[in-house]
Amino acid sequence: CNGIDVAMTEETLFVDGHRLQQQIDELSSFSDTPPPSVTRILFTGNDVAARRYVKGAMKEVGLLVREDAIGNIFGRWEGSIPGIPGVASGSHTDAIPYAGKYDGVVGVLGAIAAVRALKRIGFQPKRSIEVIMFTSEEPTRFGFGCLGSRMMANSTNIVEILKESFDAENVSFAEAAKEAGYLDVVMDHSGIPIGIVTAIAAPASLKVGFKGDGGHAGAVLMPVRNDAGLAGAELALSVEKNVLASGSTDTVGTTGVFKIHPGAVNSIPRESHLEIDIRDIDEKRRDKVVDEIKRSAHEIAGRRRVTLTTFEIVNQDPPAQSGDQVVGAAIEAAELLGLEYQTMISRAYHDSLFMARIAPMGMIFIPCYKGYSHRPDEFASLEDMIKGVQVLSLTLKRLSSL
Ligand code: GLV
Ligand code: MN
Ligand code: MN
Repeated sequence: CNGIDVAMTEETLFVDGHRLQQQIDELSSFSDTPPPSVTRILFTGNDVAARRYVKGAMKEVGLLVREDAIGNIFGRWEGSIPGIPGVASGSHTDAIPYAGKYDGVVGVLGAIAAVRALKRIGFQPKRSIEVIMFTSEEPTRFGFGCLGSRMMANSTNIVEILKESFDAENVSFAEAAKEAGYLDVVMDHSGIPIGIVTAIAAPASLKVGFKGDGGHAGAVLMPVRNDAGLAGAELALSVEKNVLASGSTDTVGTTGVFKIHPGAVNSIPRESHLEIDIRDIDEKRRDKVVDEIKRSAHEIAGRRRVTLTTFEIVNQDPPAQSGDQVVGAAIEAAELLGLEYQTMISRAYHDSLFMARIAPMGMIFIPCYKGYSHRPDEFASLEDMIKGVQVLSLTLKRLSSL
C-alpha cells in the first residue's frame, strides 16, 4: 500500500517555497498593465508568454507536456499502472483586467510544486497525476468563463457558441486562437490556513441592451426624452433590489459592465449595455432572481419608452458538489500535517465546476489578504501557499495510490 505515511510531517514533506514564489513573481511580469496589477487576457501576447512559462515549469519537474485544441495544457506524471483513471490538479493563469498575481496561478504553480515535493520524497504514483492549466477560466475576452473545462466536460453547445463569439474589437474566437498558435478564490483570513471546498455556487451571467432616441443634451426637453442610459441605471439598481429580495446572503448580483453610447457629456445616451453576474448556492433561488431581472428589464423599457434590444442569458450553470473521496483525502492530509482546516462553499466559480461533470472533484483553498481577489493587491503569503501545497501533495499522494 502506498498510503500516506502517518509519520509524515511538515519537516519531511519539503515544499520549495522559494522556487514557488519566484515562479509566481516571474509569471506576473507577463501582464498588459503595470505591477502590482496583472492583466492577462486569453490568447494575447502575454497569455501566450505565460503558457510558454507554464510548459517550461512543467518540464523542469519532469512532467510530460501536451496541449489540446483549445489550449488546455497538461503535464503528466505517469503512474506505475498504465491505463487506469488518473488524478488531476490545476487552475488557470489568465487574469481579468487589473487583477492580482495569485488567482489561478497558485493552483497551477502550486500543483507543480506539489509534484516536486512528492518526487523529492521518492513517491511513485500508481495512478498518473496530471497538472492542468485550463484555458480562460475568466470570461473577460469572449464573455464566457471556464472555456477549457467546459470543453473538457463536453458542455453542450460550447463549440457552437465559440464559433459565433467575438471580442470587443470584433476579433472572432477562431482568429484569436489562430493568432495565439491554437487551431481556469476568495477566502477571508479567518486564521484558518486551509479551506476544503464541499460545493461551488451556481453562476449565471446576462447581457442587456437598451436603445432610445438620444439627442442633444440642451435641446431635448425632459418630458420627451427616452434615455437609454437611465434605463440601464435603473436596471442596475433593480439587480441589487431583486438580489436583496431573495432574503438570503448567499444570493449575490453584480453589474460589472455598464457602457453608454455615444458617451459624450452633451449627448443623451442613445444606447446602454450592461453585463450582470448573479450567483447563489441555491440554483432555483438564483433562477428566480434572473427571471425577476428580466421582468424588470421589460418593465423599465416599457415605462421609459426605450427598446430592450438584448436580453441574453450568457450562461446559467448549475452548482457542483465535491466528491466525498477527494474531500476525505484533503481532510486527512490536513490532519496528518496538523493543519487547522474548515470545510466551505466556493462562491467564486472555477474550472472544477465543469470538471465535476466528468470526475469527482475537490478544491483546497488558502487564505487571501482580507479575502481580496480580482484586485491588484490580491495577496497570499508564502507560508500559506506552502501549507496549501503540502495538503495538495498528500491529497494527490493518497488519491493516486487508491
Ligand atoms: C472567477 O473568477 C469567478 O468569477 O468566480
Ligand atoms: Mn478569477
Ligand atoms: Mn480563479
